[in-house]
Amino acid sequence: MPYRTGLQALIAGCGTSQAARHALRQPDDAVVGIDFSAASVRHSETLKRKYNLANLEVHHLPIERVGELGRCFDKIVCTGVLHHLPDPDAGLAALREVLQPGGALHLMVYAPYGRAGVYMLQEYCRRLGIGHTDAEIRDLAVTLTALPRAHPLARLLAESPDFQRKDALADALLNPQDRAYSVPQLFDWLTRNELRFGRWVRQAPYLAQCGALAQTPHAARLATLPPAEHYAAVELLRGVMARHSLIVYHAASRNSLPHFDGAGWLKYRPLRLPESVVVRERLPAGAAAVLINQAHTDPDLFLPVDRVELRQVEAIDGQRSIAEIIQQVAQHARNSSTLQQQARYFFTRLWQWDQVVFDAADASGEKNERSLT
Ligand SMILES: C[S@@+](CC[C@H](N)C(=O)[O-])C[C@H]1O[C@@H](n2cnc3c(N)ncnc32)[C@H](O)[C@@H]1O
Repeated sequence: MPYRTGLQALIAGCGTSQAARHALRQPDDAVVGIDFSAASVRHSETLKRKYNLANLEVHHLPIERVGELGRCFDKIVCTGVLHHLPDPDAGLAALREVLQPGGALHLMVYAPYGRAGVYMLQEYCRRLGIGHTDAEIRDLAVTLTALPRAHPLARLLAESPDFQRKDALADALLNPQDRAYSVPQLFDWLTRNELRFGRWVRQAPYLAQCGALAQTPHAARLATLPPAEHYAAVELLRGVMARHSLIVYHAASRNSLPHFDGAGWLKYRPLRLPESVVVRERLPAGAAAVLINQAHTDPDLFLPVDRVELRQVEAIDGQRSIAEIIQQVAQHARNSSTLQQQARYFFTRLWQWDQVVFDAADASGEKNERSLT
């Protein structure tokens, strides 16, 4: 579908600022934030006044009762919330009920393997009977500084801003009301709630075609697996995923992903993602640049490109179709007859590597899209 604004958006479990930030960034969206914490709602109201956010409404309401708003939404964002609910299915089912038939739901839930250290320390605190007094939390923070560098919690302690604050540390380790979903558990959860996986917000970390895995003897074998099996296997190989961010749809919806069979892909208009950057220093041999998505945390996820590929990237302006980009680059290419084949491969890779998304509106009549789930 074409990129459009003016959506009805729900930020479910918005915390202190997520709904306000959304309203500020998307001034044409009508944004509703809900949270069951009165303090979060009050803070969101303060931001609404401070930034004059006429497109924001905030309600003190638990997700499980979101139906009481009597409205449906094109876009629902629920990040870092459902895994804390006593009954995550009830929360997810409530959100599904208010998702428009063609709408999209953006979820973020914890993933188990990267959080192994959290669950170990939760058990440690339980065994010692550590409570919530300031002194106990301070002693815990000091004790954690003695963890060996290879401890499964050490990486999270170093990388996650959450663990830098004592209250957040106490929340994570002393109030263990959370659960985590492996990829197969996540897919089961969605199916149980009549929802369908659309895509990962960042898909390269889940694909054996991207990064170091692509060079292994298992890459081809992994690539033959059905998508859900493929992601489950890569989650085990990557080993340290601590959360999953994904877009889901109603099970019966016709939303689909771009693909590169047929000829419709030539009409796609690529849009570069804001977090993607072109690096021109310290390049691998033969590369004219390296493309990086700054939101990726895996250091192997960089995409070297040659000079012709770089020209294609530079020609992306959100207006030109891939066919027009090829045409533009052909003037400089040594062998323009193979350019279309190369471009098909290259734009597939740009998409897999989270460098671009596509406005496929012009290709929608081409029977060019299929669901990959
Ligand atoms: C970790 S914060 C995430 C905030 C925000 N979604 C973000 O990603 O920055 C979790 C939020 O969910 C809210 N929350 C927890 N359970 C909820 C429920 N049942 N209904 C609504 N909000 C809830 C909490 O009050 C808190 O503000």
